[in-house]
Amino acid sequence: MLEHDFDQEIDRRNTGSLKWEKYAGTEVLPMWVADMDFASPPAVIDALQKRVAHSVFGYSRPHASLVEVTIAYLQRVHGVDVDPSWIVWLPGCVPALSMACGATGEPGASVMTNSPVYPPFLHVHRDSGRQLINVPLACDAETNSGYTFDFDAMEAAITPDTRVFLLCNPHNPVGRVFNDVELEALIEFCNRHDLMLCSDEIHCDLVFDDAPSPHRTAIGFPESIRDRTITLLAASKTYNVAGLACAYAVIPNPTLRRKFIAAGGKLIPEISPLSFHATEASYRDGELWRQQLMAYLKANRDALATFVAGQLAPVKMAPMEATYLAWLDVRGLGLENPGGHFESHGVGLSNGADFGAPGFLRLNFGCTLKTLNEAMARMVRAVEDLN
Ligand SMILES: Cc1ncc(COP(=O)(O)O)c(C=O)c1O
Repeated sequence: MLEHDFDQEIDRRNTGSLKWEKYAGTEVLPMWVADMDFASPPAVIDALQKRVAHSVFGYSRPHASLVEVTIAYLQRVHGVDVDPSWIVWLPGCVPALSMACGATGEPGASVMTNSPVYPPFLHVHRDSGRQLINVPLACDAETNSGYTFDFDAMEAAITPDTRVFLLCNPHNPVGRVFNDVELEALIEFCNRHDLMLCSDEIHCDLVFDDAPSPHRTAIGFPESIRDRTITLLAASKTYNVAGLACAYAVIPNPTLRRKFIAAGGKLIPEISPLSFHATEASYRDGELWRQQLMAYLKANRDALATFVAGQLAPVKMAPMEATYLAWLDVRGLGLENPGGHFESHGVGLSNGADFGAPGFLRLNFGCTLKTLNEAMARMVRAVEDLN
């Protein structure tokens, strides 16, 4: 099969793109929200065109072949057997995070997570009147590396009414894929404190081939915790169909599943039939495209890491095992508003403060190398201008 051309420049201006509209009318390069500037796999476009040609777009259920393909994908790629009844289809992982908080315990109970983390992790507890216990990940602050759970701090912070642990794995924004030792310790922690574990694995098909550990899905966690596990997945990040809005939760325990659905109340809208077809085509026919994507992203990652280490001192980039979201420690620049500074030099990044880590920035390199090169040139000027 022909190589997909990830160098192809697609103008996303005036298409209603959240990422690009933020800087409409300016020359700022948007490198913030987590979608990529690449066309989705040809098989996904074909499937959407076929569904559009059908011409009726009424309320839709997940059709049989979508469920079969998803179960086959989970078995083939992640090595887990999933019963169709375990799957709850949703229009997004963010509502699912919120529902997970409300699925167990009472209002006033606590939810634990670890910053820095994808911002909704720090807010979804409010939807169900829960409290947040945020225990920062441990890391080597000198090198912006070695991010891992800080179990001593977690033990010290936990309260008897803590009911839920929100895990992000692979981790946005620090780029880790947690290994067996870390996950075994987390399972033990959750079991000992009787916590429900909600594992957001939306980035699990974006793991680089040089990551020290493969991704281990919570769906395959031991019996001891499986009945208290909610795993969140989607084709959206990997196959660049996030705007079509489709995700799913895998919940083996029927009681927890019912409570999870009930926690959504009447707030969860129907899922678009187009998104169901995009998900099916991604999982059924997207693997070769995904491998080519990962090779392209890896080259972008390496170019960025070499650039940051060589030309952007004292900025430090965290080593990346997964995702196209680089985590930059820019505290050494001594900026009050680092996001604003880079934006005024033409690069639109995500502010670390939103992830619970002021002094950091997140850079989305899911773009052409040409765009990344231009962003890097602008970032050098942004740092030079401080001297
Ligand atoms: C960890 C994580 N969870 C969820 C989402 C968003 O998911 P959705 O668009 O399905 O609500 C993102 C988007 O960046 C993410 O990084």
